[in-house]
Amino acid sequence: MFRLINLILFVFLFANVFSWNPSNYSYDPGSNYHLVWQDDFENVGPVKATINGAPAYAPNPSNWILKTGNINGGLQNYTDSIENAYIQNDQLTIVAYKEGYTSAMLSSVYLQQFTFGKFAAKIRLPYGQGLWPAWWLVGNAWDKYKLYWPTVGEIDILEMIGGRQWGNSNDKIAYGAIHWNNASNSMTPLNHAQNQTKWQTPDGSLLHDNSLVYWTEWTPKNISIGVNEFTYFQFNTTNISGSINPVDAWSGKWPFYMILNIAIGGSWPGSPDNTTVWPQKMIVDWVRVYQQ
Ligand SMILES: *[C@@H]1O[C@H](CO)[C@@H](O)[C@H](O)[C@H]1NC(C)=O
Ligand SMILES: *[C@@H]1O[C@H](CO)[C@@H](O)[C@H](O)[C@H]1NC(C)=O
Ligand SMILES: *[C@@H]1O[C@H](CO)[C@@H](O)[C@H](O)[C@H]1NC(C)=O
Ligand SMILES: *[C@@H]1O[C@H](CO)[C@@H](O)[C@H](O)[C@H]1NC(C)=O
Ligand SMILES: *[C@@H]1O[C@H](CO)[C@@H](O)[C@H](O)[C@H]1NC(C)=O
Ligand SMILES: *[C@@H]1O[C@H](CO)[C@@H](O)[C@H](O)[C@H]1NC(C)=O
Ligand SMILES: *[C@@H]1O[C@H](CO)[C@@H](O)[C@H](O)[C@H]1NC(C)=O
Ligand SMILES: *[C@@H]1O[C@H](CO)[C@@H](O)[C@H](O)[C@H]1NC(C)=O
Repeated sequence: MFRLINLILFVFLFANVFSWNPSNYSYDPGSNYHLVWQDDFENVGPVKATINGAPAYAPNPSNWILKTGNINGGLQNYTDSIENAYIQNDQLTIVAYKEGYTSAMLSSVYLQQFTFGKFAAKIRLPYGQGLWPAWWLVGNAWDKYKLYWPTVGEIDILEMIGGRQWGNSNDKIAYGAIHWNNASNSMTPLNHAQNQTKWQTPDGSLLHDNSLVYWTEWTPKNISIGVNEFTYFQFNTTNISGSINPVDAWSGKWPFYMILNIAIGGSWPGSPDNTTVWPQKMIVDWVRVYQQ
């Protein structure tokens, strides 16, 4: 009996793990949602450079600005160079280089901002020690309320900490998180609170091995985060234990903008080392926003 149960369990697990086929996954937001905005990263505008022997275009300036310099710590120097962020083959590629640790951060602040909905992006991640790619949302309440982070709120749909600082399988793990001010809905008093959950690939593959859809659903009551068909983070925002309630950050009083970037180093991933393979790329097929 024990063996039979083991066999059944084995077959079940085996079937489950190996039926995960991210290569043919298609994201479905559900019939109650409709597409309100997307960037399919088509080749538009003038050719900016020849990269890998083919024409390269800049990210669409009506959707994205390139933030420059050193932002949020770490070693990286974000640039607006075409070498660090370009469109080619209907994909956005962000490249992190060893030389000067240059990289790119695309932000849709003031350009494409949305209140509630599903935000999804299909991304193939970089890998390796010291790489810190992210796809995230931040509230913009500056003009109307003069509020900034963390009171405005943040939804981290995806962060990956490449390498082995926290174990041996960091490149298989996606982190989802939210950040807010749990002490007040103004800038004082301020207490940065966060809640984070992680997800590991069911077959032990690296996130780098496949283009996966990383998504969030933000409703007036609820924030969920997932990868492809898996929902691994659900947070009820209506009454948060140990926090000021209700929290304005996710209430819909202000919209959120989107960020795609590769950070390098910093205390969470640790620095790159001689195992890190350079350059590293984050390849994005599309970004979509759906609303009800
Ligand atoms: C996707 O892959 C799964 C598992 O291999 C298979 O059952 C399914 O038919 C495939 N779907 C498509 C649309 O190819
Ligand atoms: C960051 O990169 C830019 C563009 O290559 C360069 O001009 C700038 O000096 C760099 N900054 C630092 C701090 O290295
Ligand atoms: C995160 O949120 C979950 C669900 O509300 C809760 O159980 C958990 O204690 C929270 N963790 C932290 C560190 O606040
Ligand atoms: C929270 O989100 C989950 C997943 O989308 C959903 O099943 C659940 O009904 C939501 N709860 C509320 C209160 O909106
Ligand atoms: C929020 O939860 C606390 C306990 O966690 C409870 O005392 C309080 O009544 C709740 N408030 C609302 C508005 O549900
Ligand atoms: C979310 O929290 C509120 C207030 O505590 C509660 O009334 C509601 O049932 C919760 N929703 C879910 C889906 O747990
Ligand atoms: C805010 O969260 C911190 C820990 O994240 C906790 O120590 C503190 O008591 C919370 N403060 C309030 C006002 O909820
Ligand atoms: C890589 O770095 C480690 C630790 O600093 C060192 O022990 C090792 O010799 C280095 N390997 C190479 C090939 O440089």
